[in-house]
Amino acid sequence: MLVTGATGFLGKHLVNGAATADWELIAPGSGSMDIRARDSTITTIRDWKPNVVVHLAYRKDRPTIVDGSRHVAEGAAAAGAHLVHMSTDVVFGGRAAPYTEADQPFPIIPYGEHKLDAERAVASAHPTAAIVRTSLLYGTDRPSPAQVELAAALRSPAARRGMTFFTDEFRCPAHADDVARAVADLAGRPDVVGPIHVAGPERVSRAQFASLMARHLGADAHLIPTGTIAESGQVRPANVVLDVSKAARLGITCRPVTAVLGSTV
Ligand SMILES: NC(=O)c1ccc[n+]([C@@H]2O[C@H](COP(=O)([O-])OP(=O)(O)OC[C@H]3O[C@@H](n4cnc5c(N)ncnc54)[C@H](OP(=O)(O)O)[C@@H]3O)[C@@H](O)[C@H]2O)c1
Repeated sequence: MLVTGATGFLGKHLVNGAATADWELIAPGSGSMDIRARDSTITTIRDWKPNVVVHLAYRKDRPTIVDGSRHVAEGAAAAGAHLVHMSTDVVFGGRAAPYTEADQPFPIIPYGEHKLDAERAVASAHPTAAIVRTSLLYGTDRPSPAQVELAAALRSPAARRGMTFFTDEFRCPAHADDVARAVADLAGRPDVVGPIHVAGPERVSRAQFASLMARHLGADAHLIPTGTIAESGQVRPANVVLDVSKAARLGITCRPVTAVLGSTV
């Protein structure tokens, strides 16, 4: 299995976790395989001859997300490898009903637009790729960058200034270990093609999620600055719930965030 972005938050959960214990792993870093460079990315992947490529690498810019994903998909296709590509729930813009894989994506933020364009580039270059859409990721042994930032904010009023956790923005958080397990599972199932939703079964607001993480850290959740999207004047996907029944039929599930972080919403 060749993994891009192995040094990132999800990548560490994948390559260091139990999910890939039986896999022989190849993890070229951004120093040796910068995915924005087409020829060297395709050559590197083809030369390693992996059975499967898991593409997690990203940076929040269009060349990395869209061009980089296309290059990785072209490399996987050239190597004859299966491809598991990582995407996001915010390819959707938010609505009352959960989104299934059959729903037409409609992003309303630039990151979602880039990730949707990446999905389309991947599907074109590698038509049998699995495209995993997930929601907000968190960790327990290894906290996410957002959790580290929250912990700092809970310690310092200065760090809290300018921070707002929305009470009206809802998502379905997933533990990175669960998503890593799902990705490794899908790496061994080349018959699963196209989008597949892998997210937590619980819908919580950003403010509730922050509160759960704070309590898990043993911090005072009342210190969390909250507000609404409307007050902020921002355009954000307010309610993105992924229907995860396709994954569940394959035995792929994520634990409820309240069960993992040990509290009730
Ligand atoms: N974290 C979330 O809450 C979340 C939610 C939904 C979807 N996702 C998706 O999950 C995937 C992984 O996210 P993450 O949070 O684990 O990301 P991350 O922690 O930011 O890690 C990004 C990884 O990509 C690598 N990378 C960046 N630019 C690169 C380049 N040009 N060439 C090669 N490698 C490059 C980084 O390596 P260097 O450090 O060496 O640059 C790092 O290993 C992404 O596709 C993301 O869109 C994440």
